[in-house]
Amino acid sequence: MAVLNVNIDHVATVRQARRTDEPDPVWAAAQCELAGANGITVHLRQDRRHINDRDVRLLKETVACKLNLEMCMAEPIVKIAEEIRPEQITLVPEKRAELTTEGGLDCVKYKKRLAEVVKRMHKKGILVSTFIAPEKGQIAASAEMGCDAVELHTGMYANAKTPGAIKRRLAELEAGKEFAMDNKLVVHAGHGLTYRNIAPVAQLKGLCEFNIGHSIIARAVFVGVREATAQMIELITKFSGS
Ligand code: PXP
Repeated sequence: MAVLNVNIDHVATVRQARRTDEPDPVWAAAQCELAGANGITVHLRQDRRHINDRDVRLLKETVACKLNLEMCMAEPIVKIAEEIRPEQITLVPEKRAELTTEGGLDCVKYKKRLAEVVKRMHKKGILVSTFIAPEKGQIAASAEMGCDAVELHTGMYANAKTPGAIKRRLAELEAGKEFAMDNKLVVHAGHGLTYRNIAPVAQLKGLCEFNIGHSIIARAVFVGVREATAQMIELITKFSGS
């Protein structure tokens, strides 16, 4: 059965809108845990636009479930991960001008750096996942460089408008998942998933973890973080089966 990591970056985004100390992502993480989340995901961006170093340190101390640190492979960020030691990192590409992570990481192009980062993370006991398009080349490179998992980018599925396009994107995810499993990788999925589009993805057998942020935090504005998290867990559990 698949489980949910809640990406709480948007809680920090609201805080940063006034550069104050509320709402605190650490409080949000506790609410997610109380609702039964498997993990907490945060993206420590180089520009620190939402989550900052203090958040990651405190989350590492306070989160009892899995802490998944989303990050790029820039050296200062890699050093922070080595020092804080989250349970898992998810490697993403990062562009300063983007609103959110746009494409997947190019594991073929950055093979050498990826292998280095994987080695350093494993030395610290940290699991490594790569956020990639569901393409064979990217999956094979992730496996070859020693990654533990891949997070298949569901953004193209989420943005698909017609039934035919949705079907094609789902088929890509399914094929990517199979190929990743054949390569002994744990398979995660995320980006753009919502209460309305989660069902077909949750039904893909063998997906282990979902990383979902925007939709949950958006709903949390009206129903609270705990309830919004519980509602997403209910859907994932219902559709992924036991
Ligand atoms: N996975 C990765 C790698 C991401 O970069 C993000 C966005 O931060 C997510 C999942 C969550 O995406 P969303 O906020 O659209 O649910």
